[in-house]
Amino acid sequence: MSVLRGKKILLGVTGGIAAYKTTYLVRLLVKAGASVKVVMTPAARDFVTPLSLSTLSKNPVVSHFTDEEDENDTWNNHVELGLWSDLMIIAPATANTLSKMVSGNIDNLLLAVYCSAKCPVYFAPAMDLDMYKHPSTQHNFDRLEAYGNHMIPSGEGELASGLSGKGRMAEPEEIIDFIQLHIESRLPLKGRKCMVTAGPTHERIDPVRFIGNHSSGKMGVAVALELAAKGSEVILIMGPSAVNVEHELIKRVDVTSAQDMYDAVHQNLTDIHVAIFSAAVADYRPATPAEQKIKKQSETLTLDLVKNPDILASVGAMKNKPFLVGFALETENELDHAFAKAEKKQTDLLILNSMRDKGAGFGKDTNKISIIDKNKNVKAFDTKLKAEVAKDIVDEIIKQMGL
Ligand code: CTP
Repeated sequence: MSVLRGKKILLGVTGGIAAYKTTYLVRLLVKAGASVKVVMTPAARDFVTPLSLSTLSKNPVVSHFTDEEDENDTWNNHVELGLWSDLMIIAPATANTLSKMVSGNIDNLLLAVYCSAKCPVYFAPAMDLDMYKHPSTQHNFDRLEAYGNHMIPSGEGELASGLSGKGRMAEPEEIIDFIQLHIESRLPLKGRKCMVTAGPTHERIDPVRFIGNHSSGKMGVAVALELAAKGSEVILIMGPSAVNVEHELIKRVDVTSAQDMYDAVHQNLTDIHVAIFSAAVADYRPATPAEQKIKKQSETLTLDLVKNPDILASVGAMKNKPFLVGFALETENELDHAFAKAEKKQTDLLILNSMRDKGAGFGKDTNKISIIDKNKNVKAFDTKLKAEVAKDIVDEIIKQMGL
């Protein structure tokens, strides 16, 4: 899955012949799962039409601060556009635009957006060989990198002028590869390995029946996906669940009972940096599951139950343990129970859900959590989609671990 998936990308197109390649660049960005908006310099409109770029990006293209030429009478707010974006790509970046980016000479909307953007900015220079080699251009490259922008190196080859050498804009595929690799190399959990338990457990009564619970596994899967999006390898140990997960960094281990989950956790603990226990593990299991289907005979039936191992507490008691995150689902005296649970299971963070909160609970797409750290600090969050809750949890882990 591309790291560009779900990213809001602002593409700045300036007036060079390579601008015609940006139609393909937009296609590739959209295909990678990004939302794309395009801002052009007025000169760029001579090389590629706003209509092509707006059709491909599925968003209006802007090139003036306010005008009728863009067919919308409104003020094109450069600050809003700058704040909207997760990253900005300026491609092709002409020598002229690069020099204005250095000096802050804001004479068009694209430059105003560039100066307003708080996100990472990538630029792909495109110009003729002699312009590329000129000391002023080379100086501008250095200055722009010193400002914190990222240069996507130009390629060598035949140039529009007929000269041959450096100055060709990197091909759209190369631009995408460069940005993806750059983002991946800076992900906070790159090179880390995390474990997540998720879903319910099923405790066998007889060959056709079990004791289970309503956990869907959605919260744990959302956490696993967020960890992977931050660059971590993830071992997802999952009880019976209908939720699908596909990510190249996530390895799923399917289990059925609490004992299976306990075994899978302990077999996979080597080199795990962070372990997150979101599974709703059955506390008890039938003492002796029946070999054959239990027949309906007497008016009442009593099952003898024995306690399951507490997986989280077993890891919490280990000497060299990973950074440990537990969940607690409570129905009353939530904070007191949660403090006691955190201490008993020796968690670094405890994620508290209350069944009394409307947006929380099994099977829902939303959750409402509080995060409790080792010093009993409590951070309460609003009701959010589980993917957003997962982000809050993973961000807090990264913060607490100082990554
Ligand atoms: N947990 C576990 N193994 C168990 C029971 C719970 O790993 N046998 C983990 C859960 O995944 C969760 C945390 O412990 O991270 C708390 O689970 P919860 O069911 O809220 O607590 P219990 O310890 O079962 O206590 P109680 O049911 O009495 O509230």
